[in-house]
Amino acid sequence: MNCLDFEDPLDLLLENSEPAPGCMDYHVPVLADEVVAFLRPAPGILFLDGTVGGGGHSERLLQAGARVIALDRDPEALAYAAGRLAPFAHRLTLLQANYADAAQALDSLGIADIGGALIDIGVSSHQLDTAARGFSLLHDGPLDMRMGADTTVTAADLVNEESPENLVRILREYGEENSAVRIVSHLVHLRSSMRFETTGQLADAVSDVIPRTGRRHPATRVFQALRIAVNDELGSLHRGLDAISGRLARGARFGVITFHSLEDRIVKRYFKHRSSEWLDRPEWPEPRRNPDRIFRLLTPHPIDPGPEEIEANPRARSAKLRIVEHIQP
Ligand SMILES: C[S@@+](CC[C@H](N)C(=O)[O-])C[C@H]1O[C@@H](n2cnc3c(N)ncnc32)[C@H](O)[C@@H]1O
Repeated sequence: MNCLDFEDPLDLLLENSEPAPGCMDYHVPVLADEVVAFLRPAPGILFLDGTVGGGGHSERLLQAGARVIALDRDPEALAYAAGRLAPFAHRLTLLQANYADAAQALDSLGIADIGGALIDIGVSSHQLDTAARGFSLLHDGPLDMRMGADTTVTAADLVNEESPENLVRILREYGEENSAVRIVSHLVHLRSSMRFETTGQLADAVSDVIPRTGRRHPATRVFQALRIAVNDELGSLHRGLDAISGRLARGARFGVITFHSLEDRIVKRYFKHRSSEWLDRPEWPEPRRNPDRIFRLLTPHPIDPGPEEIEANPRARSAKLRIVEHIQP
């Protein structure tokens, strides 16, 4: 069944297409078989799922007999996951937290180290599909985009109050938007006589200056950029990679699923650095041992979903899974 027909990987970030009837699941987990094959869940192993979302990946880990500590920033996700995963409640702990704060979350539970971890970052289908969350270009809603209550600044705050220079930087860095200056000039002009309150107002304002070419809405990159900024998604990823890596037991495997190149680049570089035995720089007379090496890289190339998965769940199209194994005592 083809639930959504996306032409462009960016579309899945912003839901440029309506889900077909029968495709309104909270969230379909991507690369779930691959996650299980690499993480090798089994009875007695404790996993951290840093982004439980609709609970699909956690369910697979629990079905294999593992114990799971599951985090999410979003209380709605935790409530949904609690219901779905109720049959495994005796092996599951759900906690509202940013995975970047995984160390504090584990400390609060008295847990020193974990036998494996997964983060599947970005937004869930449910978040995208819920107009009131303000992520969607399709469904008019408040211009919010916060994943959880740990962030206070909304997308409306940024659009209405951020300096033009910072707005341009956000659109360029997080949206790779080439027309950032033109878009921001127009937004700044409009906001002198109105306040942006809804996703529809923002989408229309961007459409005033950027003509639509093809199926993708002209405001797609703007929405992506604001969402990343509002939730400090790249900052969380940097901090989270360190926090989780620091709590893995020897032999534990750590998987990260990303959905766009900004995120994947961070994960790729981090895993490469922490699994390289030697470091070399032009100014050094000879290579030096890497003091930060703690991993063996299990995926020199990221794992992508196969055609069958993409056919069944087009939102999986740009997912990439990278996995490492902790090798230090
Ligand atoms: C792609 S969904 C995860 C789907 C999940 N793996 C499943 O099987 O349903 C991403 C989830 O991560 C959460 N999230 C994103 N960034 C987060 C962060 N820094 N800390 C905790 N949760 C985060 C979102 O709220 C969302 O529920």
